[in-house]
Amino acid sequence: MPEINLLRRYPRSKRNIEKRTTAQSAENIRIAREYGREYFDGSRDTGYGGYRYDGRWVPIAEDIIAHFGLKAGDRVLDVGCGKGFLVKDLMKVCPGLEVFGLDISEYALMTCEPEVVGRLHLGNCIKLPFPDKSFAAVLAINVVHNLERDECITAVREIERLAPGRAYIQNDSYRTPQEREIFLSWVLTARTHYDPDGWKKLYAEAGYTGDYYWTIIE
Ligand SMILES: C[S@@+](CC[C@H](N)C(=O)[O-])C[C@H]1O[C@@H](n2cnc3c(N)ncnc32)[C@H](O)[C@@H]1O
Repeated sequence: MPEINLLRRYPRSKRNIEKRTTAQSAENIRIAREYGREYFDGSRDTGYGGYRYDGRWVPIAEDIIAHFGLKAGDRVLDVGCGKGFLVKDLMKVCPGLEVFGLDISEYALMTCEPEVVGRLHLGNCIKLPFPDKSFAAVLAINVVHNLERDECITAVREIERLAPGRAYIQNDSYRTPQEREIFLSWVLTARTHYDPDGWKKLYAEAGYTGDYYWTIIE
């Protein structure tokens, strides 16, 4: 289970360095957790404040392909794929790679990038509708933490089942009380959150043998 940051070339978000002055309201959290238009393309208070393709996943796609040694013909699954930005960029960087996505948001799938139409499945990561060992790599970036703890274990087992030892999971985390305070002031959708050791324990409990890193709020 190597700890490796495959998102090290992802642009740093401004909100990661500032504490909000007020906590998120229960209503904003409720709206965000619907993963509809308000979450992706509504105001910043209920989600992304505009989730648009801008090519920022290209360098991350390059690092993922190099890390897993992916080549044309290999199948890759992006769990919690949103509108399919990473799916699109993995195929752009490695022509012939067979990349698919799965997401719980019908809105995201209905507003996906044209290049990924037909490749994105509507579903919940606690039950991945694919055979055992059917992917050369499975990615789950900032999605598992949206589940309750017992469901996180189920989802991680599902990821492991599809690609034993060949997955990458990234979840929100914090290393210090200050980082935890900033995280709690920004969090909208995450239901389970731990420091890195807490996540490592959860992965071990789930029998996970793939790779992982954290979205650290610093
Ligand atoms: C923070 S976004 C991350 C999107 C993308 N992976 C990224 O890093 O830009 C979380 C995504 O997980 C999806 N999601 C939330 N709960 C889910 C679940 N139980 N199963 C599948 N997808 C889920 C949301 O719809 C959303 O697209």
